[in-house]
Amino acid sequence: KKVLFSGMQATGNLTLGNYLGALKNWVTLSDEYECFYSVVDMHSITVRQDPATLRKRARALLILYIAAGLDPKKNCIYYQSHVSGHAELAWILNCFTYMGELNRMTQFKDKAAKHADNINAGLFTYPVLMAADILLYQADVVPVGVDQKQHLEITRDIAERFNNIYGDVFTIPEAYIGKVGAKIMSLQDPVKKMSKSDENPNASIYLMDDPDTIMRKCKRAVTDSEAQILYRDEQPGVKNLINIYSACTGKTAEEVVKEFDGRGYGDFKVAVGESVVSVLKPLQEEAARLTKDKAYIDGIIKENAEKAGYYANKTLRKVQKKVGFPERI
Ligand code: TYM
Repeated sequence: KKVLFSGMQATGNLTLGNYLGALKNWVTLSDEYECFYSVVDMHSITVRQDPATLRKRARALLILYIAAGLDPKKNCIYYQSHVSGHAELAWILNCFTYMGELNRMTQFKDKAAKHADNINAGLFTYPVLMAADILLYQADVVPVGVDQKQHLEITRDIAERFNNIYGDVFTIPEAYIGKVGAKIMSLQDPVKKMSKSDENPNASIYLMDDPDTIMRKCKRAVTDSEAQILYRDEQPGVKNLINIYSACTGKTAEEVVKEFDGRGYGDFKVAVGESVVSVLKPLQEEAARLTKDKAYIDGIIKENAEKAGYYANKTLRKVQKKVGFPERI
């Protein structure tokens, strides 16, 4: 079986973008691959976190993976910080990554601008830790949203560079970017991506929003004065709502356009809201149910950390030997 790796940060409240751009595809792909899904808590501390909140959110995220439909017996669902190989491989890969490459990362530039008081080395080498995540498991495929594409490219560059020096050590991973939902935009400013760090709460639908809130946010979504439901770049607000509706219902954009031909934005927004509620409500209920089952979740965490550690160590030992670290006696 081919290997799949992906991860999500437990920072802020997850949005519908995280679900439609990533988690939903993870579930679809999970039968086809040997899967590793990590809660990347080590990435989270590149910006300052409150420890208790981070711990709570990391657990909620791990539970959400399972609630979304990933069977934790078949998929390795674990905390990044529980497998020390991530940090060990990241160190080695740091020595094969150029400052100039990292300087070009748009996410670094964005985050550095936003957290000007804390531009730490971890924020700068963030993509190297991400490369380590992926390469540690010899992943063939990495399902992500469009915003992670550049990080996947640098991962491939680092892996190829390493392989050119030491022989075929790493599998070169491919990004998997879904056709619908790969870039969900802000409901208030549809040329910006929907983001958990948006200050305007109406801009994002959070995965834990209740039905009334979801309906209200959809009804208030910014559209335009064209008064026609068409799928085109000139109408980014409408286009985004079509993307959301189509990702939630499985209908294609053309089918959606046909369905709402001649109808008003008001009707359409209600339908979009209802489609989101129908996807998020069962997810929330399952997450609530699982949260109560502490012993079960703890068991998963322990078992899967061991499993991930086993695979991680296989790659790590190989890499350590290649670069010339003395053998363990
Ligand atoms: P993160 O935590 O920001 O986002 C998790 C996933 O959600 C996708 N996403 C979106 N997709 C569509 N529309 C949106 N508006 C939207 N917002 C977010 C992201 O593309 C991502 O797939 N660096 C990563 C986490 C990471 C990782 C990895 C991912 C660490 N190591 C290894 C893959 C493989 C991140 O910050 O994602």
